[in-house]
Amino acid sequence: MSFKLGVIGFGNIAKAIITPFLEQELIKSNEVICLVNSKKSFDNIKKFYKYDINVFLASSDDAKLIWDCPTKLLSIKPQHLENIEEINTKRSSNNIIVSILAGVSLKTLEKKFPNHKCVRAVTNIPITIKNGLTAISWGDRINNDEKIFVRNLFKNASKVFEFSEEYLDIFLALTSSSPAIIALIVDALSDGGLNGGLSKEISEELILDMILGTILMLKDSKITTTDLKNMVTSPGGTTISALRVLEEKSFKSALIEAIIAATNKSKEFN
Ligand SMILES: NC(=O)c1ccc[n+]([C@@H]2O[C@H](COP(=O)([O-])OP(=O)(O)OC[C@H]3O[C@@H](n4cnc5c(N)ncnc54)[C@H](OP(=O)(O)O)[C@@H]3O)[C@@H](O)[C@H]2O)c1
Repeated sequence: MSFKLGVIGFGNIAKAIITPFLEQELIKSNEVICLVNSKKSFDNIKKFYKYDINVFLASSDDAKLIWDCPTKLLSIKPQHLENIEEINTKRSSNNIIVSILAGVSLKTLEKKFPNHKCVRAVTNIPITIKNGLTAISWGDRINNDEKIFVRNLFKNASKVFEFSEEYLDIFLALTSSSPAIIALIVDALSDGGLNGGLSKEISEELILDMILGTILMLKDSKITTTDLKNMVTSPGGTTISALRVLEEKSFKSALIEAIIAATNKSKEFN
């Protein structure tokens, strides 16, 4: 059996990347081999995953087959990286490892996997609903065909960007951390609705649809954020009253500082 793609850690994000790749028939299920750590995950994949991929426990003898795959997706949690040992099989000297581990630099990957060409990717949680954003940084010696394969891996579930590695920290802050900021804003605004006498459920529905509508206006029309603000802010009206409170509480500055903090934290991990 010749495996084409090895997945080290078949968790939420790996499934989000691999499933559309299988759906698009860009690879056959019997060409994919994946590793998990626990019997529970192993059983769940065997029982419930819709494709009949090869799955092995990381502790099993068969796990070393992964090192025969020309391309590997490394998708364990960063704190488990120390448990992974590269096996330099005959065929692996020219192979690729694509890591999606937050905060693990190309330099660290190249040190850990000296017999592999390394690629670092940062993606975000909406990839699980095929609406992700992925940034790829190429290590040395990756050729054009290999780039096409790696781009395709992410393309079915996310918009793909290519950046030099120095921009991955800010990319991560803006795209991977910010979904939590948006969730917080949705929660806070709908608490405002709750305070005004509406149920939390209705308030959240209103806020989510308002955000969707606003985003569609910003994305589809040619208006800028300033244009939109001016359209809904009339002299002496409700919106300027709300904006004044946010200004008083340094809301905009707090968001900028949040992005700086996430970027710096990501840099610390590298
Ligand atoms: N979650 C996010 O929002 C997000 C977004 C972008 C990128 N990322 C990155 O994506 C990576 C994966 O995150 P995730 O949310 O998909 O995590 P996850 O669902 O916990 O998946 C991790 C997988 O790794 C397996 N694993 C653990 N130790 C292993 C070992 N020694 N050998 C082989 N497999 C092993 C786990 O198996 P068991 O289930 O059996 O323990 C599990 O299948 C992380 O590095 C994270 O930084 C995450």
